[in-house]
Amino acid sequence: MPSLLFEQGAPGRGGDFVRGAGKPSQYLDAAALRADLPLPDLTELDVARHFTELSHRNFSVDTNFYPLGSCTMKYNPKLNEAVSAFAGFTDLHPYAPDDGAQGAIRLLAHMERTLASLFGMDAFSLMPAAGAHGEITAMLMAKKYFKDRGEHERLTCIVPDTAHGTNPASAAMVGYNVVSIPSTARGRTDLSALRAKLDGSIAVCMMTNPNTLGLFEDEIVEMTASVHDAGGLMYYDGANANAIVGITRPGDMGFDLMHLNLHKTFSVPHGGGGPGSGPVGANARLSPYLPSPMPARDASGAYVWDEQRPKSIGMVRAFPAHFLAIVRAYAYIIVHGADGLRANSQLAVLNANYLRAKVKKFLTVPYDDHCRHEFVCSAEQLKKETGVRALDLAKGLLDAGVHAPTMYWPHVVPECLMIEPTETENRHTLDAFVETLRELVVYAHEDPAAVQQRPLHTPVRRVDEAQVGRLANKGIGLRWSPPSSDGNA
Ligand SMILES: Cc1ncc(COP(=O)(O)O)c(C=O)c1O
Repeated sequence: MPSLLFEQGAPGRGGDFVRGAGKPSQYLDAAALRADLPLPDLTELDVARHFTELSHRNFSVDTNFYPLGSCTMKYNPKLNEAVSAFAGFTDLHPYAPDDGAQGAIRLLAHMERTLASLFGMDAFSLMPAAGAHGEITAMLMAKKYFKDRGEHERLTCIVPDTAHGTNPASAAMVGYNVVSIPSTARGRTDLSALRAKLDGSIAVCMMTNPNTLGLFEDEIVEMTASVHDAGGLMYYDGANANAIVGITRPGDMGFDLMHLNLHKTFSVPHGGGGPGSGPVGANARLSPYLPSPMPARDASGAYVWDEQRPKSIGMVRAFPAHFLAIVRAYAYIIVHGADGLRANSQLAVLNANYLRAKVKKFLTVPYDDHCRHEFVCSAEQLKKETGVRALDLAKGLLDAGVHAPTMYWPHVVPECLMIEPTETENRHTLDAFVETLRELVVYAHEDPAAVQQRPLHTPVRRVDEAQVGRLANKGIGLRWSPPSSDGNA
């Protein structure tokens, strides 16, 4: 039943998208800011219904399947929320003195030790606010390490073409020259191509493992040894650690630096790329460079923030941790324990392989090998036969209440969909997803134009891609303008 206030499927009279072609929007108009606000004459019930309706338009893993590859949209247990809402945590002032924040620093110190032991690292900084922030933090550490050694010529960062997109971006942001390494026909980094690039200019090699094809780098030990022989450091992008926790450890593979996405692996809410928590781990030779301060204990056994770390790169954000994100992840780790964490990793891998085996019956799976937590399939053949692209399949899934998989990434696979079911989905949901995707593929052969029209049942339908492209080329963005007093945009 359409709402009285808002037409079903329209962005709503609470605002509309308009071209902001260089003109200041109504928001930025000083006179408009001084004028009385044109508040609509509405009852509390009208407002409650409006916001409740808007909340129903949210897409979340609490209501629907969310197979967004690389993003690990798994269910975040409500227990995490309950624990992070404890008054002792939420009422703590960020500038509370150490002796007034013993419990909080203790929790952070325990978390730091737990991550070090789970991933085979000497120490972790809990400071970075997200995965990419962790990458930059680690690259800054590597820079300072080589500076201290007087190895100023080490300015090359090697990044395989199956690494996450943020890796080359982070390396470039700290001033490294990024060199890409191709992958083999098996979807793994080409070891001989890597070795051919190793010389005295190598600073770091950043490996996403499992890589963005969902495959484990099975020559990883040879790679770390080769990079070390050339005097470089190995960096482990551990954002995909939900496939390995409790099974294997980057420290044991020889990595010097790594980051984690607590907001993926350890079930902390995230969306739109964060905010979250991206702790950085380091082995013994790199840990002095970790951001400062670090949680520690003084001679009396009290918990303190240790700032006496002369080699540290310093602070990378205003506070030592995104505290409540860490509390949530800590609760998750305590509840599951070592065996539970391992079982979750195994289940994530099992679910991904279950889907891979079913999806390959009607879509190409180009690297059809035993995958880890995710896999990549391709609609290239379907596009040749019907004109229906990966984008169309993803949009079709929206009509069935399924979030679109990651599309067109990694770029080594044309027309690709990257699918990550996570360990929290049951077999019924996985089967229903496969059936929906299969029906879309069948439908694409029968009536491709109809598939290309989808979605038909979402509040926002397809945007005019050609028009968006034209506007973007002219440097014109889309801006939101507030409603006028009569409720019309
Ligand atoms: C493998 C990998 N590395 C790095 C990142 C970047 O993490 P964030 O989005 O928290 O910055 C992601 C994000 O999903 C990722 O999947």
